[in-house]
Amino acid sequence: MVAQKASIKTEVPGPKSVELGKMREKYLSRGVGIVAPVYMSKAEGSLLYDIDGNVFIDMGSGIGVNNVGNRPPEVVTAVKAQADKFLHLCFQVTPYESYLRLAQKLAETAPGKGLSKSVLYNSGAEAVENSVKISRHYTKKPAAFSFVHAFHGRTMMAMALTSKEMPYKAGFGPLPETYKVEFAYCYRCPLNMTYPSCGVACADKIDETWSKPQFQGKVACLIGEPIAGEGGFIVPPKEFYAKITKICKKHGAVYIDDEIQTGAGRTGRMWCVEHWPGVEPDMLVSGKGIGGGFPVSATTGKPEIMDAPQVGGLGGTFGGNPVACSAALAQWPIIEKALKNVPKVNAYMTRRLTDLQKRFPIIGDVRGMGAMMAIELVSDPKAKTPAVKVTKDIKTAALKRGLLLLTCGTYDNVIRMHPSMVMPPEILEQAMDILDASMAEAVKG
Ligand SMILES: Cc1ncc(COP(=O)(O)O)c(C=O)c1O
Repeated sequence: MVAQKASIKTEVPGPKSVELGKMREKYLSRGVGIVAPVYMSKAEGSLLYDIDGNVFIDMGSGIGVNNVGNRPPEVVTAVKAQADKFLHLCFQVTPYESYLRLAQKLAETAPGKGLSKSVLYNSGAEAVENSVKISRHYTKKPAAFSFVHAFHGRTMMAMALTSKEMPYKAGFGPLPETYKVEFAYCYRCPLNMTYPSCGVACADKIDETWSKPQFQGKVACLIGEPIAGEGGFIVPPKEFYAKITKICKKHGAVYIDDEIQTGAGRTGRMWCVEHWPGVEPDMLVSGKGIGGGFPVSATTGKPEIMDAPQVGGLGGTFGGNPVACSAALAQWPIIEKALKNVPKVNAYMTRRLTDLQKRFPIIGDVRGMGAMMAIELVSDPKAKTPAVKVTKDIKTAALKRGLLLLTCGTYDNVIRMHPSMVMPPEILEQAMDILDASMAEAVKG
């Protein structure tokens, strides 16, 4: 019988993983970093089974992809059925219905008003690239705004829009024309103010910057993650993006809502900005969780924007691959059903994490939404000095106990958790117990 909870039988990584690690060093570029050097043989629900017989709780979900767990049976069935029909045709050569059905789902659920037309791609970065291409074509303007702490991917424009130099940008330039504006990182307010008395002045500051002569008539779009994911699970105040909507309108630019990490139900709504009144994106970019574990991404926008480019200007060989579309469509109703479980996952994690914060002052901030929670670690709670080494040590200690954690943050001091929206309570409890023990070990040094 397969184990139903985390259990560790060997050193971590185990001997078989160590062997494959040597092969990795020989054949792979060091540019491909690895979070946990444990090679997997199977994944099911919230558990990962490695080749050495160890079982890990999956708090990474393949970086926020497996929103309803690994291999939902309905998705596996749909993929097998599709494999019996056709694997690849290229929608731009001979089309098929599932591409249209996925575009229909996106149109039916997209936040804001009238985001009814889509294009499908493979990766998040590819969708981001295309969102800027389309915005440029529509507005006839060249530049793009994005936020400090943003992550939008690793291709050329997506990388330019990303904030963090190391490891994402250093040495890869020159980059296309983009400008950074401050994000509402309340724990480290860029204006040294306090919410709510600040009146979300950081958004007004963006308007001020944008009104400068050098930006007039120049900016095609502003792209923003509802919650800055890679930047540290930074949740802005609920008023922030409603203001951004208005500022983009005022300056005649497209507001692109990057829900690649926050979307597909992860925060308890299909799209995260639905939590906040008055937020009306002109375009949605989605990826990761929509595909049920398969690579598919999308730009979805207002018809006048999406139809701006000429015929043949958008697309790609594999975009909206039939197997990926079938997986996405089979997973969609599972996500819709799972939405109601997210507040339970969130309430339990919030309780356990705030309890940890009381006992470990090194936890400066507990934050997140839905099944997207993080702790920011600081060695001095007043100076908020990033506790980078302890962050790494917690991740390592947790892995040795059977809990896969990811880290993130502009300052490399955030532990992030992406549990399945339907992680069983007993597994979630074991995960939090392991985190607790790992904190104790790491803090002791
Ligand atoms: C918000 C956001 N945008 C874009 C991307 C890039 O997606 P991909 O890695 O599929 O290219 C990511 C990936 O982490 C992301 O979190």
